[in-house]
Amino acid sequence: MAETATLTYKDTTIELPVIEGSEQEKGLDISKLRGSTGLVTLDPGYKNTGATTSGITFLNGEQGILRYRGYPIEQLAENASFTEVSYLLLYGDLPNKEELAGFDRKLSMHTLVHEDIKNFFLAYPSKSHPMGQLISIVSSLSTFYPDSLDPNRSAEKVDLTMIRLLAKFPTIVSWIFKKNIGHPIVYPQNHLDFVSNFMHMTFGQRTEDVEIDAVIVDAVNKLLILHADHEQNCSTSTVKIVGSSHANLYASVSAGISALWGPLHGGANQAVLEMLENIRLDGGNTTKWLDKAKDKSDPFRLMGFGHRVYKNFDPRAIIIKKAADSVLEKLGVDDPVLEIAKKLEEAALNDDYFKSRKLFPNVDFYSGIIYRAIGFPVEMFTVMFALGRLPGWIAQWKEMLELKSPIGRPRQIYTGHNERNFVALNDR
Ligand code: ACO
Repeated sequence: MAETATLTYKDTTIELPVIEGSEQEKGLDISKLRGSTGLVTLDPGYKNTGATTSGITFLNGEQGILRYRGYPIEQLAENASFTEVSYLLLYGDLPNKEELAGFDRKLSMHTLVHEDIKNFFLAYPSKSHPMGQLISIVSSLSTFYPDSLDPNRSAEKVDLTMIRLLAKFPTIVSWIFKKNIGHPIVYPQNHLDFVSNFMHMTFGQRTEDVEIDAVIVDAVNKLLILHADHEQNCSTSTVKIVGSSHANLYASVSAGISALWGPLHGGANQAVLEMLENIRLDGGNTTKWLDKAKDKSDPFRLMGFGHRVYKNFDPRAIIIKKAADSVLEKLGVDDPVLEIAKKLEEAALNDDYFKSRKLFPNVDFYSGIIYRAIGFPVEMFTVMFALGRLPGWIAQWKEMLELKSPIGRPRQIYTGHNERNFVALNDR
């Protein structure tokens, strides 16, 4: 017998169906609430609101579980390639050898970006933020591929749009990096795997190949996998809200990148490094900065700490911390900022303020340290997050269309003036 919850409001009593997911998490279906009672729900920040059912990613914040399509993140980060994980997210199952080879081949056929896009870089100011560039270039891809404008065209067309975006994104990111440091762009070499090709375009030069160490390629592969999806987070929900109006994929993902940019979301990795750098320049007094974070009259927050969903630990942070150690060791980098990060983490984990609020290091506390050691400027960190999150955004957008989800349009409780009459300017 299906469970229900009973809600009584004035003289109306209704039964609200309880929906159970495949991991026994439960939700109250309130889709008939307004029709029966006139009430809407109020839940700022959607802290208790499920916007959809989804078969892509499962996470349990209390137990620190994260799984893509059922596979634990620890196993995927240890054993899979980023394109394997992308395939898994997009199509639902791990590919066999032929399927993966076919997917990689399709991706390598679409790595080139239209030459006219190079002209964009003539227009951006030399120190403009890479995220601003990424947002506009991704959105502009729709102008080069008008066949992508209608997301309800054939499944083949939609698939081609998804492949194009996934394949061109690393090329675009590498061009943005080259613009940032003022170097000429490097074209893709399609015999390389996805991550090696990206690293070649980013750190290679026109005239010679640069050997990228396998430890670095492996760390980037891991970082991308760890960021690849995170169910209905701020940027993914943005992609879906925009996509729910049947805007094209490029426009929807571009909106998601905008949402990711903020320091409370993907921009945290840049903010963490800047914070650690400030603490270092300030003499490395972590207690002083912890006190600032605890002071309610001070807007400062400990960046890279806390998470809306994880309340014991972020499983991605544990994997990243280990990867940071091996990358720094391999590169022989002795980064003073890593020591500050470790000191800060230890102090916060033993502090009542952080303990009582269940604030732990999140995925971005250590990712910036790896990116910096590899050679990315801080402004590129969130762009790297976007590269990782891309398959998740696309998979969630695709699922939303397959579920024939209605347009996203929340309600509100109006708290403004009641009706009043217009007063002529001279009488005010
Ligand atoms: N430093 C100090 N105090 C914090 C922090 C922090 N980083 N995070 C939360 N708190 C405190 C809040 O002040 C609040 O305290 P109160 O109950 O006394 O008022 C309590 O902890 C709960 O915080 P909320 O802001 O209500 O939690 P919410 O779920 O809305 O926010 C968020 C989560 C945005 C991640 C928050 O923890 C934060 O701002 N962290 C720093 C930014 C960051 O690292 N963002 C990256 C998140 S991971 C990602 O998006 C990839």
